[in-house]
Amino acid sequence: MKITAFNGSPRGRNSNTAIMVEEFLKGAEEAGASAEQIYLSEKKIGFCRGCFNCWTVTPGKCIIKDDMNELLEKVMDSDLIIMATPLYVDGVAAMLKAFMDRFLPLLDPHFEKDSNGEWRHTGRFEKYPDIMVISNCGMSGRKNFQPLKLHFSKVARNMHSAVAAEIYLEAGELLHNRSVVLKPLISNYRRHLRIAGEELVTSGAISEKTAAQLAKPLLKDRFYMREANRYWDRELKKLKQNS
Ligand SMILES: Cc1cc2nc3c(=O)[nH]c(=O)nc-3n(C[C@H](O)[C@H](O)[C@H](O)COP(=O)(O)O)c2cc1C
Repeated sequence: MKITAFNGSPRGRNSNTAIMVEEFLKGAEEAGASAEQIYLSEKKIGFCRGCFNCWTVTPGKCIIKDDMNELLEKVMDSDLIIMATPLYVDGVAAMLKAFMDRFLPLLDPHFEKDSNGEWRHTGRFEKYPDIMVISNCGMSGRKNFQPLKLHFSKVARNMHSAVAAEIYLEAGELLHNRSVVLKPLISNYRRHLRIAGEELVTSGAISEKTAAQLAKPLLKDRFYMREANRYWDRELKKLKQNS
């Protein structure tokens, strides 16, 4: 199985998203997959211009000369693509959105109805990769991910694909926390990410048991709010002292 993860965090290799993807891919590789994490922050990706030249003048190819042609080859060469993003304004980070907007050449312009009677564009290929979502957000609560979940279900449908798995971590900033209290909780979470990667490759899905572990917040929300607010107080105090 070939897995390519596209990390849309502007923090790139230092992102919480990167930690989640890295651990998941480790597990997947241990189970025999070949895997790669691509940092969109290191790529040149222009905005889709809406010219539709990729449908009319150069069918299947975008006229913008940047890294997208090479990235689209990687998309189509994968069995599973991971859309990895921090939650930004209740949705995907802008880099991942710019990347997905550029998927247009992968589809044919004609319209058709899917099995639910919903419109979409016809496929240009026999087979599209499955889609997986990995995301983390700054606030507490799984409800934060509702819009993202809905968005990716539509993206998958449009791409003649399916969402194979989703991993969402609330209060994800804690992944970089160095406190002794959190250390064992973070390593336990990372271990379950590796187990999830392994399970997805060996059985095609993340087990309910592992999914339940990954759905648990790292800290109870009242402690997280207290610690987060203390952190911002300290940062703002530093600013006052330096001014
Ligand atoms: C522009 C911006 C918008 C954000 N919007 C949200 C949001 O809507 N909900 C939320 O819970 N966190 C939000 N966050 C917080 C990030 O999701 C959080 O910091 C996350 O841990 C960053 O992950 P990363 O290190 O993978 O980039 C936002 C952060 C930024 C910079």
